Amino acid sequence: MAQPRKLVTHPGWLRVTHWLNALAVLVMVMSGWRIYDASPIFPFQFPRALTLGGWLGGALLWHFAAMWLLFANGVFYVAMGLVTGRFRRQLFQLRPRQVWHDFVAAVRGQLSHDDLTHYNAVQKLAYLVAIVDLIVIVLSGLVVFKPVQFSNLGALMGGYEGARVAHFVAMSVLVAFVLIHVVMAAAVPRTILAMIRGR
Ligand code: HEM
Repeated sequence: MAQPRKLVTHPGWLRVTHWLNALAVLVMVMSGWRIYDASPIFPFQFPRALTLGGWLGGALLWHFAAMWLLFANGVFYVAMGLVTGRFRRQLFQLRPRQVWHDFVAAVRGQLSHDDLTHYNAVQKLAYLVAIVDLIVIVLSGLVVFKPVQFSNLGALMGGYEGARVAHFVAMSVLVAFVLIHVVMAAAVPRTILAMIRGR
């Protein structure tokens, strides 16, 4: 008897880059908060227990180590998304009316989760925001890391101080995305299994 074909929802390269990215983001955010605490821009600090690195020097080492993982993994993910046509198939087309329609359906609890190969429009928008936001994080991080070498890029962000604020705002957007993303994924646990096993 013919075996039913297993439906691959998430190819291997996507699962590996997704979880490596999650690890890199966790290390970057927690060490970043420790670096921020050493010289806060705003009148608050992050609780020490939520930070990584112990002190400024240790946090910088974690931040710079995870930076290479985030960058290399991100470049590979974007290249594969473009080359394989996944971005075109899964994240586009995206129409504002569709986003609104799916948002209203989600609020009413009427969104279907039957087909895990297909993202709803709100999900597509959230993923695109996360991807663009990560690019802003890397670019503003480069300016904060090497302000002289990247002075032209820095000028677009209002100089070194502007790049620091841009880096912080982009981090905040990413943390908000991750919090919502994890809650939504946990609400439909099959999606987490699919992101681990691919089917
Ligand atoms: C920490 C930073 C994270 C970022 C930036 C991130 C970003 C993304 C992106 C961009 C996608 C779409 C991938 C594509 O199809 O090309 C995705 C999918 C997904 N992520 Fe994450 N993610 C993160 C963490 C997590 C965590 C911690 C979980 C576990 C709870 C998770 C669970 C999932 C699942 C289940 C999907 C597939 C959703 C579905 O099939 O409906 N993610 N993520």
